Amino acid sequence: MKSLFKRYLLLFIIAATVVSCVENNKPNYEYMPNMYRTVPYETYGEYPIFENGQEAKLPVEGTVSRGWMPYPYENDAEGYASAKANLENPLPYTEDNLAEGKQLYTIYCAVCHGDEGDGQGILAEREKILGIPAYDDAGRAITEGSVYHVMYYGLNNMGSYASQTSIEERWLIDHYVMNLKDQLAGNPEREFEEAASFNEVENIIPAVNADKEMVSKETSTTSSEEEENQNEE
Ligand code: HEC
Repeated sequence: MKSLFKRYLLLFIIAATVVSCVENNKPNYEYMPNMYRTVPYETYGEYPIFENGQEAKLPVEGTVSRGWMPYPYENDAEGYASAKANLENPLPYTEDNLAEGKQLYTIYCAVCHGDEGDGQGILAEREKILGIPAYDDAGRAITEGSVYHVMYYGLNNMGSYASQTSIEERWLIDHYVMNLKDQLAGNPEREFEEAASFNEVENIIPAVNADKEMVSKETSTTSSEEEENQNEE
C-alpha cells in the first residue's frame, strides 16, 4: 500500500514537472516548423534584408504594367479641352467594332444614358441619377476625344470606367456613342472603314490584352488571308 502511494506521488511529480513547463505565450513544440514558418519570403512580409524592410517591391521607375498605358491628359478643365480637341479614336470604324461597342455600351452606359443615348436610361426614369445629358446636347458638343476622356476620369455624378474597361474597350464604346450622337442629331450614317490589320492598331494601343493579342496576331493579318481562313473552316 505504501509503495503504491509512493508511485502515485512520483507520477504526480513527473506530471506536474511536465505541465509546469507549458508557457501559453509561446508556441508549443513544433514538430514540422516548415509548415508554420515558410522558407521563402512572404509576399507582403517585412524583412530587414530589403530596402524599407518591405518584400513587395514597387515597379521600376519609368516602367508600365502590361495592358496599361499612361494617359497623357490631366483630369482638369484644360486636359478635358485638350482631349476634346486633339484625341482621336485609333480603332477603325468597322461594323464589327461598332457591334462590339454597342454590347459594351449596353453593359456599362445604357442604365443611365439609355439605349438611344438620349439620357433616359432606367436610372434616369427612376430618378436615381439626375442630369444625364443626351449625346446630341448642343451645349456639350461631345467629340471622340471628350467621350474617351470622360470614360477615363468620370465626370461629377458619372464614375470613371478606367478600371472596368480596357483601353480598346473604351474606344469601341466611343465609336458607338458617336454613332448614337449622329442618330439623335439626324446626321447621315458614317460610312464603315476597312478593317485595319492588327499591327497597325497595335502601334497605337500596345498590349491591350495579352490573350487577345496572341489570337489576333495569328488570325488577322490581311483581309484576303482572313477570307482564305474562313473558306478553309
Ligand atoms: C451612373 C449613371 C451613368 C453611367 C452608368 C454613365 N454615365 Fe455618362 N454621364 C452621367 C451623368 C450624370 C453625366 C453628366 C455629368 C455632368 O456633366 O455633370 C454624364 C455625362 C456623360 C457624357 C458627356 C460628358 C461631357 O463632355 O459633357 C458622356 C459623353 C458620357 N456621359 C458617356 C458615358 C459613357 C460612354 C458611359 C459608359 C461607359 C457612361 N457615360 C456611363 C451618368 C452616367
